[in-house]
Amino acid sequence: MTDRLEGREKVTGTARYAFEYPVRNAAYAAAVQASVGKGQVRSVDAEAALRLPGVLAVLSCENAPELSDTSDGELALFQSRTVSFRGQFVAAVVAETLETAREAARLLRVEYAGEAPDVRLRADHPGLYKPDKVNPVFPADTEQGEPEKAFADSAVRVDAVYTTPAEHNNPMEPHATIAQWNEDGTLTLYDSNQGASTVQATIAKVFGLDPSRVHVVSPHVGGGFGSKGMPRPNVVLAAMAARAVGRPVKFAVPRQQMFATTGYRTPTIQRLRLGADEDGRLNAILHEVTEQTSTVKEFAEQTATPTRILYQAPHRLTSHRVVALDVPTPSWMRAPGETPGMYALETAMDELAVAAGIDPVELRVRNDTDREPESGLPFSSRNLVACLREGSERFGWAGRAPEPGARREGRKFVGMGVAASTYPAYQRPNQATARAEPDGTFTVRIAAADIGTGARTALALIAAETLKEDLADVRMEIGDSAFPRASVAGGSAGTAGWGTAVVRACEALRGKLNGAVPPGGIEASADTGEELRARAEYARHAFGAQFAEVEVDADTGEVRVRRMLGVFAAGRIINPTTARSQFIGGMTMGVGMALMEQSVMDREFGDYLTRDLAQYHVPVCADIRDIDAAWVEESDPHLNPMGAKGIGEIGIVGAAAAVGNAVHHATGIRVRDLPITPARLL
Ligand code: MOS
Repeated sequence: MTDRLEGREKVTGTARYAFEYPVRNAAYAAAVQASVGKGQVRSVDAEAALRLPGVLAVLSCENAPELSDTSDGELALFQSRTVSFRGQFVAAVVAETLETAREAARLLRVEYAGEAPDVRLRADHPGLYKPDKVNPVFPADTEQGEPEKAFADSAVRVDAVYTTPAEHNNPMEPHATIAQWNEDGTLTLYDSNQGASTVQATIAKVFGLDPSRVHVVSPHVGGGFGSKGMPRPNVVLAAMAARAVGRPVKFAVPRQQMFATTGYRTPTIQRLRLGADEDGRLNAILHEVTEQTSTVKEFAEQTATPTRILYQAPHRLTSHRVVALDVPTPSWMRAPGETPGMYALETAMDELAVAAGIDPVELRVRNDTDREPESGLPFSSRNLVACLREGSERFGWAGRAPEPGARREGRKFVGMGVAASTYPAYQRPNQATARAEPDGTFTVRIAAADIGTGARTALALIAAETLKEDLADVRMEIGDSAFPRASVAGGSAGTAGWGTAVVRACEALRGKLNGAVPPGGIEASADTGEELRARAEYARHAFGAQFAEVEVDADTGEVRVRRMLGVFAAGRIINPTTARSQFIGGMTMGVGMALMEQSVMDREFGDYLTRDLAQYHVPVCADIRDIDAAWVEESDPHLNPMGAKGIGEIGIVGAAAAVGNAVHHATGIRVRDLPITPARLL
């Protein structure tokens, strides 16, 4: 139980975030967004903007320098006249102050040849196609047995379509960058991101530099959830602008511009078919997904992949179809794939439980499996049933009346729902160094990112444990591309991947320590690439069970989550204090998904109409009442030296289904389109 090491710095305001770095002589950038949904920039009239005192430069497709690499359409800033979606950055102004930059951006006159954009995702869109693979490398389609026939022949069947809306990551700290070109031609970026090494490599390529000439500094990051997993246009814009004016340039994406430029969760249309025998044993599972990407870059979400691993069934089918619309490119948002996919699968499982007259917990237990169904691989560990049992016990599931609408307290209908949760236990190659200092302390370095997760603290604990030293004597340094190369804080793979490198570096250092440390210190390093390549084949996933109790106002349709409990099996939990926050944070985001969050597309003109937290609702403290997370002891020798699986994303997976299933249990109304707003219950 260790408090966050940088907690004091954060709450006292001394932790420094990207935009706050004190660079000398900084200028400020403001971006201009396309006001048409599709078309061409005809002209950019900068005259009025340039007349404003304090304006230093205007950048657009008419004068921007050519970038060395434009393979990532999202980062190919101002490289063409084409407008691919409304809200795309088409120009920028650099000025002495932020206020001047914003005013000048307003004065810029951009003329367009516009066309009507196609922004509406439909299951019958003529442009739908099968992607080569879905994020990152999964096959788009899988099929085993005779799913259609087996489904038709099943005694109990569910056939339903579920939809989830576009949703946006809304980190507290915006996407922000200070770019500074140094006299020796190197580039320093103070940047808010989920991986300094990734930003370094990507931006070096865009500007045609050797990666060693790009230095990314990001020790503190105020949230990301996937939206900062790759550099966004803000980084390119700041670097381009800084070069143009020969001064450091600061640029933070205002929240209103974030909705078009920093990624979002694709909307989905999902058809689920479950066929079972009378005892609820699944015979057929069919999960067909329709989702969107952009014309700029393909992002095909892996929405149906959890269905490939969760329940046994001899006959199976999953498929993904995408259509490239005139919209911003969807991207990663906390558990991309698992989150919307498990909403649909776990709601369908609830419908099957009702149809078969079987308790929803029991139905899931009955369809558990000790081999990953589609690959046939053994699980390194799988404790879904333990989570379901432990959660039932703690939550008081046994007292739940099976029929919906049975419990009423005054104006409130009250119900309980459950859903399973799963997320892969990924691990990527990493490097780290560990150093014994002459004063008896230790310094451990890795370019890892702490996006508010507690990663720094977990890594310090891992280092101290391996070194057999006091935590107070270990200096954990992260968030800098000058440190050994690290994988991104994504895919819930941070602690497992970074931690392994930290363990190996610390072990190597211990091997070198014998006697006094010389004045220059002693350093050891590690690279875990080989170790990962040598791993035996297992299906590695974390599992969990989500329980929710809701009350639904009979008159207004308002849903309140009264109680929520998640029980997880995620290997060894390194630091219970921050792990619990991670789980609860994910579950809270799941409540938002269930009841509030949706980004509304302007169907006529393009771009999202929801552009701030007044319109895009996320849960606040008053919405989150009795919420708790627990975990079962799980020892898994097939993971990494810590025995840890990831915990960053599993908390959100299944949470929305648990809430929706509780709403059905309370009211008898099955809402299949998120979010479950009052209008959908009346
Ligand atoms: Mo997470 S969406 O893999 O940062």
